Amino acid sequence: MTQPTAACPNRMQVHSIHQETPDVWTLSLINHDFYPYRPGQYALVCIANDPDTLRAYTLSSTPGLSPFITLTVRRLEQGTGSGWLTQQVKPGDYLWLSDAQGEFTCVDAGHGEQERYLMLAAGCGVTPIMSMSRWLLAQRPDTYLQVIFNVRNPQQVIFAAEWQHLAEHYPSQLTLTLVAEFDAEPSFLAGRLTPELLKQAVPDLAQRIVMTCGPAPYMQHVAALVADAGVPATRFYKEQFQIGAESLEEDGEQLTLTIRQPLNTLRVPVGISLLAALESHKIPVNAACRAGVCGSCKTKVLSGDYTTSSTMTLTADEIAQGYVLACNCQLHGDTVLA
Ligand code: FES
Repeated sequence: MTQPTAACPNRMQVHSIHQETPDVWTLSLINHDFYPYRPGQYALVCIANDPDTLRAYTLSSTPGLSPFITLTVRRLEQGTGSGWLTQQVKPGDYLWLSDAQGEFTCVDAGHGEQERYLMLAAGCGVTPIMSMSRWLLAQRPDTYLQVIFNVRNPQQVIFAAEWQHLAEHYPSQLTLTLVAEFDAEPSFLAGRLTPELLKQAVPDLAQRIVMTCGPAPYMQHVAALVADAGVPATRFYKEQFQIGAESLEEDGEQLTLTIRQPLNTLRVPVGISLLAALESHKIPVNAACRAGVCGSCKTKVLSGDYTTSSTMTLTADEIAQGYVLACNCQLHGDTVLA
């Protein structure tokens, strides 16, 4: 079978597919060669062997511990990558993956000994948190780990059985707190992540290394909470690439995104990535990697309130002119595009 693109040189065979929740599946992949990666990293997957359709997914497995490379994928409405992976791919099929990428890993966070971690996850953002939790518990027995996992309802707990197993197996090393927004059962806290909940659950928050992954508004909320609690920026880590369609929240604060040509005005959630904002309104935009590495989503911003987390393929001149990578541009206020 021919490698579809140089970006994805690793051919892996689907061993099995396991349904985690009503809309999330884990694909276990057999890799016949050595595939180096670190807990928390992600890979690009070539969707349907189309070299122009690359999507980024966390490697939910853990190096040195998991028998397979695994991808855990939430099926999104009209999601090209997630639809193919969760509905069409079958055991025995082959997938092509890039080398592992990303800086969101516990390996470099902290000094390694007797560190106290707080992992905050929401939705599918739990995938790197699980990868890193397994690794820390097994490889750094001196560390203490607290995981707070926010879900909409108890049926949405990804890796539910494994979390239970880990909590029982490492009672002095791991504290697991599940928070359900709706229909909380007795083993859950009810509601959302609040300053009060955080203060009560993590009295020594300022001394923790904090790592978070989830939809963009959630991570923004976490960033504000932990900054207020005195966690220095050097001990706070958040995943960047998952800021996408999952972050579309209908009940959150909205901003206005204006496109000059052709003139169009969109209302989108604060914190959303520019790419997700455009795609959610069916505005055509090229996006191959969705991870800030290929440059295909380059877009010119005339004015606005936004931050960027990757400018990897842009020249200094382009940045000065206002160009951004839409997949790595988070919108915080009204913004105007050329
Ligand atoms: S899609 Fe590749 S850099 Fe944005």
